[in-house]
Amino acid sequence: MRRVEGKNILITGASKGLGRQLALDFAREGAAAISLVARHGDQLYKVREEIRDISPRTRVLAMPADLRHSKAVERVTAATLAEFQGRLDVLVNNASALGPSPMPYLLDYPLEEFRRVLDTNLIAPFLLARKLLPAMLEHGGSMINVTSDAGVTGYPGWGAYGISKFGLEGLSQTWASELEGTGIRVNWVDPGNMNTDMHRAAEPGEDPSQWADPATVTDVFLYLASDESAAVSGHRFKAQEDWRPRALESDLAEREA
Ligand SMILES: NC(=O)c1ccc[n+]([C@@H]2O[C@H](COP(=O)([O-])OP(=O)(O)OC[C@H]3O[C@@H](n4cnc5c(N)ncnc54)[C@H](OP(=O)(O)O)[C@@H]3O)[C@@H](O)[C@H]2O)c1
Repeated sequence: MRRVEGKNILITGASKGLGRQLALDFAREGAAAISLVARHGDQLYKVREEIRDISPRTRVLAMPADLRHSKAVERVTAATLAEFQGRLDVLVNNASALGPSPMPYLLDYPLEEFRRVLDTNLIAPFLLARKLLPAMLEHGGSMINVTSDAGVTGYPGWGAYGISKFGLEGLSQTWASELEGTGIRVNWVDPGNMNTDMHRAAEPGEDPSQWADPATVTDVFLYLASDESAAVSGHRFKAQEDWRPRALESDLAEREA
């Protein structure tokens, strides 16, 4: 049995970087249907082709949309639910904007850019969840929000991006508490430094080869999307560290006892 056999999954920011890799790995692990969202259709359609090569039986919906706009969120969620016949198993809120590069300090941060980052990284995941959670209630489901170490430490220059991730961590914790006992689990993952467009824009002076290939960080996402994590909610994971700490294991053992 593959890890996400038969599951219906929506991934935002699926055109490149981590989101693309998650789409490919979910397809390889047996997803029944995957809904891919990002602004640029050309890149998204390429990912759809890659999935078709890996797993011809996986149904793929590729939807170019700018998630900063609530109307786009409505369009994406309606089309996904129609394609998935009303059942969603996994929502991955991965799409993110970094903001201006080089990254300005807060005193110099342009207000419009600040709003744009928060709309993408915080408001869109909130709206997507509100629209999609009802489709998870009957069979249970998993929401996975992608955070960052800039979401727990206020690094200079990481401005709106870091603040949006602080917000996403709060949103994730609150969803997890409010959804306790519903069968919907909510967890959030810091993937760590990866060699992607975003990180290259954030630290243009650094050597990107020192950062992880997104293909090496997806195991925890497969775990959280699979039934193996059915009893796990309200946890923060670090994809590049030992993400099954003894504390989590014993916490789970206690809950299962
Ligand atoms: N890279 C790292 O080192 C690192 C470290 C910690 C956390 N993270 C987190 O990991 C996740 C993936 O990052 P990544 O490095 O893979 O980034 P990336 O390569 O820049 O990919 C970002 C994705 O989000 C999409 N996106 C951006 N704005 C959007 C919008 N308004 N509407 C819809 N889609 C939008 C992009 O596609 P379009 O441009 O076509 O819209 C793209 O598919 C993010 O949540 C990021 O914060 C990354």
